[in-house]
Amino acid sequence: MKVLVTGGSGRLGVAVVEGLLGLGHEVVSVDRCAPGRRHGGEWFAADLAVAEEARWAVGRVGPDAVVHLAAVAVPFSRPEGEILRVNTALAHHVCAAALEAGVRSVVVASSPTVVGYGAPGGWVPSYLPIDEAHPVAPWHAYGLSKLVAEQVVRMFAARAGERMRVSVVRPCYVIGEEEWAGAPTQLGHTVRERLDDPSLAAGSLFNYVDARDAADLIGLLLSRGDEVPNGETFFAGAADALARAPLAELLPRFHPGTAGLASALVGDAAAFRNANAERLLGWKPARSWRTELR
Ligand SMILES: NC(=O)c1ccc[n+]([C@@H]2O[C@H](COP(=O)([O-])OP(=O)(O)OC[C@H]3O[C@@H](n4cnc5c(N)ncnc54)[C@H](O)[C@@H]3O)[C@@H](O)[C@H]2O)c1
Repeated sequence: MKVLVTGGSGRLGVAVVEGLLGLGHEVVSVDRCAPGRRHGGEWFAADLAVAEEARWAVGRVGPDAVVHLAAVAVPFSRPEGEILRVNTALAHHVCAAALEAGVRSVVVASSPTVVGYGAPGGWVPSYLPIDEAHPVAPWHAYGLSKLVAEQVVRMFAARAGERMRVSVVRPCYVIGEEEWAGAPTQLGHTVRERLDDPSLAAGSLFNYVDARDAADLIGLLLSRGDEVPNGETFFAGAADALARAPLAELLPRFHPGTAGLASALVGDAAAFRNANAERLLGWKPARSWRTELR
């Protein structure tokens, strides 16, 4: 397959480009910025938040599949209105351009933040572990922009029917090979610091995923997208929590009111479950901080 990866220069993008190359795909990446870390795919520049540039970029490559990762990826890293505008425009313009160009398969990155954890007004999960059926309630523009991106995917699934298969992946906190080796993670701390001080990972319920595992699931969705409902959503998280103590103990400490719901999260159990990936594709993550941290 010829695959266009948007945001291919980013933290997750580099791993996805490498993962797809490893599966034998021809991979081209488009991003506003050049890849900081070298990857084997071809790269070119475009601002995909501009509809004409998105159309030009997809048309220039003529891919069989598109993996859409480009986004303002960190909550509050830019003014709220800008995050909402850019991320929703990106999702819409890339999917629209893909349909217009006859692309067969599209995977769009969303985020677990759509469920609303950490809301200053107070938030408790409806149940634990959280899966794709859990209610959504974003409380910042980033989470809202990802929820809109998910709706964009469903809109294009409805519009395209069998002409284009579209899926959503909600990667948990992405950790790549450099971060396992000690580089700062997305929010600035190293993995080891997040493990040593549970308050750092508590806000996101100790979720994480190895970037290569997320890339594996995306690769699977490209090759077996026909086997899953069009417009479906998939969590992509590690099987365990990014914590040294059980979440049954940690979650109530940082999220008052969760003691009862969290009581089943004993041992290394995570707060999120890849229910759809497991049920529909038989996918499970292969890596854990226990095996990867150097
Ligand atoms: N990193 C995480 O922990 C995490 C967790 C959940 C979801 N996600 C989602 O996964 C995707 C990838 O995240 P990441 O961590 O690799 O982010 P990142 O910031 O490292 O990469 C995003 C890339 O998108 C590019 N981009 C932004 N605006 C663009 C535009 N207008 N046109 C073209 N390119 C543009 C950036 O230059 C950047 O290289 C994002 O959609 C993010 O929201 C990431």
